[in-house]
Amino acid sequence: MSQSDFTSIEDVLSGETVGKTIQVRGWIYRTRSSGNIVFMTLRDVTGVLQATVKRGNLPDAEFEDAVKALIESSVQITGVVKEDKRAPGGYELQVTNLLVVNFAEPFPITKDQSPEFLMDQRHLWIRSRKLTSILKVRSTVVGAIHSFFRGKGFYEFDAPVLQPNQCEGGSTLFEVKYYDEKTYLSQSWQLYAEAGVFALERIYNMGPTFRAEKSKTSRHLSEFWMAEMEAAWMDLSDVTMLAKEEVKYIVSQVLEKNRKELEILEQDIPKLERIVSEEFPTITYTEALRILKEKEGMEIEWGKDLRTVEEDNLMKHFSTPVVVTNYPLEIMAFYKPMDEKDPRTALCFDMLAPEGYGEIIGGSQRSTDIAAMTQRLEQMGECVGNYQWYFDLRRFGSVPHSGYGLGVERLVAWICKAENIKDTIPFPRTLLRFRP
Ligand code: 4AD
Ligand code: MG
Repeated sequence: MSQSDFTSIEDVLSGETVGKTIQVRGWIYRTRSSGNIVFMTLRDVTGVLQATVKRGNLPDAEFEDAVKALIESSVQITGVVKEDKRAPGGYELQVTNLLVVNFAEPFPITKDQSPEFLMDQRHLWIRSRKLTSILKVRSTVVGAIHSFFRGKGFYEFDAPVLQPNQCEGGSTLFEVKYYDEKTYLSQSWQLYAEAGVFALERIYNMGPTFRAEKSKTSRHLSEFWMAEMEAAWMDLSDVTMLAKEEVKYIVSQVLEKNRKELEILEQDIPKLERIVSEEFPTITYTEALRILKEKEGMEIEWGKDLRTVEEDNLMKHFSTPVVVTNYPLEIMAFYKPMDEKDPRTALCFDMLAPEGYGEIIGGSQRSTDIAAMTQRLEQMGECVGNYQWYFDLRRFGSVPHSGYGLGVERLVAWICKAENIKDTIPFPRTLLRFRP
């Protein structure tokens, strides 16, 4: 069976095969029979197509198979393409041969089922049009991240997934038995990347990242993909500029490659187009508190982290992502340096997405002050001995360097307007679920 023997549904719907006899293959999306006729819609990765199976147009045994075949049966169909205004997409296939490759059992997923049931059936539910569309966007996003960094001369650099250290605080570490010892699943690629920049200067990576998040929110996964970059000689302002450029580039790639999916997802395309052309503002944490007080009447004590509700209220006043810099030093990870110009704060930033999608990027300049980092780690009860290799990076030719991490699922959720981050990854892992 040659691949070229089959026409994609997308090509049929483009109209270029009208009047021709073609072969398509895929899965039965919907089917209903009445007497001597079966109306089915067929789906493949490119779209859905109506097929009309009439007794007499094909061998009787094949007609009987068409009557019997339930949804999600896989089929190969030969037929003549006809224009039909009433058919979805404007074309239909009049079937002359039908081969059922696999007769599906009754499909467990029917209309109006609970999200939990759909999660149990995730291996089947990923075939849905909604999830298929989101997964296509995700694929574009991942491809765009690679091409963005490679296009700028960054090298892909890999870090271990099993790591003895924490990077983003001990409370969300996943512990793993490592022979007779224990280690952790990676919370971030960053600490190893900080070693890598002294060899390769500009590096990036995208990989699975693990956080034992104790809360059930629509923004947190226990396993997610983070796209990170680290570069020697870059400071905070360099990396915030790069982060803005990266997000615009990713959105522009999705607009170029996924219009159809954005339409299926009912995303506002002109709004996404404005993301590419408009400036993303940069404000400080202190300015964010002022906006919350003046425009929302929310009084946040200086020094407290912004919670979801504060981020959402702040973002009501912006239509593009916003970079927020200079969070309070005290509440930041140990590697974030003090800003000499405002010593209460760190040289760090978050990028917040509009419309309630929250923090999509976190990053900072990196501290070069071994004493300050030691003190922070001690306060956190960490074994400072485990970080001596990391401090070596400050002892042997240290240079200013910075980096950030982008949450792939958070970004996809925002671009696709997904209600829940779980829909942006094929098999989500959360506080309550690690199956199937
Ligand atoms: O802000 P975070 O914790 O930053 C870091 O891990 C840095 N070490 C990155 C770096 O500088 N190289 O995480 C980065 C991003 C967040 O902005 C968020 O988008 C995403 O990762 N993220 C999560 N996404 C889904 N589920 C979770 N539990 C997430 N935790 C963080
Ligand atoms: Mg963060």
